[in-house]
Amino acid sequence: MSEDPQSRYERDLELDRRLESSEREGLTGTTGASIYEPPLVPDQASLPPKSVEPGEEPRWRRDFAVDWPEDNYVARRDFVKFLVLTSGAFVAGQGWIAAQSLIKSRRPSPSPRRVATLSEIAPGSVLVFDFPGEHDPCLLIRTESGELLAYGQKCTHLSCAVVPRLAEGVIHCPCHEGYFDLLTGRNIAGPPPRPLPKVVVEVRGDEVWAISVEERTV
Ligand code: FES
Repeated sequence: MSEDPQSRYERDLELDRRLESSEREGLTGTTGASIYEPPLVPDQASLPPKSVEPGEEPRWRRDFAVDWPEDNYVARRDFVKFLVLTSGAFVAGQGWIAAQSLIKSRRPSPSPRRVATLSEIAPGSVLVFDFPGEHDPCLLIRTESGELLAYGQKCTHLSCAVVPRLAEGVIHCPCHEGYFDLLTGRNIAGPPPRPLPKVVVEVRGDEVWAISVEERTV
């Protein structure tokens, strides 16, 4: 004869109450929420999310009964473990940033490099060159007034190549509509978080030389 729904429901609740047994106490994640309190009455030990009359709930809910007080319980050991792990990750992240800045500050300054002659870059034009490495694209811009400006060409958001718009006085990143000021290289709109790296250039006779790169944060 098949078991009637009410008896089965009560038997399932008894199973939940076994979590309170002395053999299981102290095991992380298995100790009931009420370990230091009087035992819960069976009806409170495993409440379904929606209150449904016993015996009328769907079978899946009985087969996969959830003990909500037990499920929501966070042991002190779990909480301390979580705190230690998150603090450890934070300290490791800070250490990594500090190590990166140290490596950067000790990197030898690049050798100056000849970029172009003045006659090769007319006022109102732009020239692309690599500095300091061959995979570091940069822009040499000569404004209509003859001023020479140079910036790294990689956008400070996700490294897309930026494009100068001399007539508008901006440098545009087409990937996510980022904008930089043409005269300073500072980020003025869109997602870029920092100004473009500035390349220090020097005119030696008729030639333009790249001397160094200044990474800027503001
Ligand atoms: Fe330039 Fe996103 S890569 S705005």
